[in-house]
Amino acid sequence: MSTAPTDRLHTLMDEIRAEKPEGADAIEQFRIKYLGSKNVIKPLMAEIRNVPNEGKKAYGQLINEAKQLAQSRYDDFQAGGADTDEEAGDRPDLTAPGEPMPLGSRHPIALTMRKIISIFERIGFTVAEGPEVEDDWHNFTAMNTPEDHPARDMQDTYYIADGLPAGPRNSAMLLRTHTSSVQARTMETTKPPIRIIAPGRVYRNETISARSHAQFHQVEGLYIAEKVSFADMKATLLHYAREMYGAKTKIRLRPSYFPFTEPSAEMDIWWGLETEHDHRITKGTGWLEIMGCGMVDPAVLENCGIDSEKYTGYAFGMGAERQAMLLYNITDIRLMFENDARFLRQFASVM
Ligand code: DAH
Repeated sequence: MSTAPTDRLHTLMDEIRAEKPEGADAIEQFRIKYLGSKNVIKPLMAEIRNVPNEGKKAYGQLINEAKQLAQSRYDDFQAGGADTDEEAGDRPDLTAPGEPMPLGSRHPIALTMRKIISIFERIGFTVAEGPEVEDDWHNFTAMNTPEDHPARDMQDTYYIADGLPAGPRNSAMLLRTHTSSVQARTMETTKPPIRIIAPGRVYRNETISARSHAQFHQVEGLYIAEKVSFADMKATLLHYAREMYGAKTKIRLRPSYFPFTEPSAEMDIWWGLETEHDHRITKGTGWLEIMGCGMVDPAVLENCGIDSEKYTGYAFGMGAERQAMLLYNITDIRLMFENDARFLRQFASVM
């Protein structure tokens, strides 16, 4: 291929790139010179006859490139960009594929709480809330656990040293140890019938291990009306267990003790004993405890201003982490508070 016309064409293209016309007149000069009817590219087009046959095609393409270069530079100048080649490199390439925006995922505890809430909402419970920094009265005394009551030892409490005004009846401030405090708050301000669930975070001064943590979540339930019976409670909790763990789920209620309920029970679900894992998590019994429950103690109703002659009710409280671990096969509770993205990403597809 004869290099002479090709070289001249390259030189011309370098010139086009180097042009920086300022002002409308200069830009018009640029147009006349490179794009006008007597532009400087044309004579080089005629040169194609001096190019040997095998080089004609490449030469023709180069001519086209030169024309396109002149046109696009001119368009830029017209648009006011007047970019040099280096600046042109900084402009965003609007044809490039977009950068994916990583989507977050729901936390397994949030997923579990949403499931629990929606099961109870469908049967008429509404969500109630209370503060995490609570006073001793709502957390303990109103719930029939006065100071010096031995049941206070069941929950190791974080008290808040000072700096906060005292709660009702000059009670101390603390981080709530259970969502049962929301029962007291709701009963104080609402007339029966009351049908609420209270999801939220609670705190206890416990040694952190694979099975327990100093912060965790509970969902509390409370139903107060006339003639509410233990059988009503059992039917509701069986419904819950079957919605959550499958239509064939069996439950059992074992007698237990809580200061705020009488009688009190703990509810287990039948998990099964088929695999080694089943044996391990149920300690060889096949049953798993998932909540505490019972008939609201009349003393609690009276503490919160509800006539215990007229009304009865049941209450329950369940842990969210335990159930999240069952639902999603999580073996260490600490994973749920470390926020390691590799752990959390696994729940991206769970709704
Ligand atoms: N508050 C109890 C706890 O944290 C759980 C509980 C038991 C709540 C029985 C209740 C109940 O409402 O009736 O261990």
